[in-house]
Amino acid sequence: MIFATILAGGSGSRMGSTEKPKQFLLLGEKPVLIHTIEKFVLNDKFDDIILLTPKEWINHTKDLINKYLPNESIKVIESGNLRIDTVKNAMDYINENYPDDDNIIVTHDAVRPFVSHRIIEENIEAAKNHDACNTIIPATDTIVRSKDSEFVDEIPNRDELYQGQTPQSFKLTKLQELYDKLDDNQKENLTDACKIFTINNEPVAIVKGDISNIKITYPFDLKVANFILKE
Ligand code: CTP
Repeated sequence: MIFATILAGGSGSRMGSTEKPKQFLLLGEKPVLIHTIEKFVLNDKFDDIILLTPKEWINHTKDLINKYLPNESIKVIESGNLRIDTVKNAMDYINENYPDDDNIIVTHDAVRPFVSHRIIEENIEAAKNHDACNTIIPATDTIVRSKDSEFVDEIPNRDELYQGQTPQSFKLTKLQELYDKLDDNQKENLTDACKIFTINNEPVAIVKGDISNIKITYPFDLKVANFILKE
């Protein structure tokens, strides 16, 4: 089976003080996460769509689904403290409810509402063929490394640098197997699900992202998103 898991468990601290976490804020006439879910609903390859939100937002999220997507069966389950814990909750839910060696999990940030059909399709194909894939775009700005935020330590060659987007997609059995191999320290420092593969020297295929697949992180991004929506 193929699962879409929409990660909506963040607090959105970089958004500043908003009345709700950014995934619930209005983008045009609908909350951000509804725009995102719609992209996955439109793809008939998914057997199930799982949305993960903080416990205190689960009822509100279910109300939103009933209002905006009344005919869709979307599971709403609890997210985790860190993003990687949210991915783990999705893994556990699928393993418990739909155990199958061939399961594929497509994980996507709820705050990337402009993901394209092409990117989703290529993620599914890459996960089938390669066990893991990451959606990335070439870095446009020069990326600089600084350990102390005061002085520049290194300026890596930009030709080799990319920016990570989502989806990130996996064969679930492989993701689980590699996750179980990590020690506690590695688990605590995991910022990215694809790192589970790179830490274990396992390949991660590349899916070409798109500059329009923006992540709403700062208030400015929401303004840009409203502009893109009007276009
Ligand atoms: N996310 C999640 N579970 C968490 C943390 C983040 O599902 N424990 C999700 C967010 O809801 C978002 C995506 O992962 O859709 C990317 O998160 P990001 O914007 O980097 O983090 P936030 O916690 O939402 O925001 P901030 O870092 O500004 O606090």
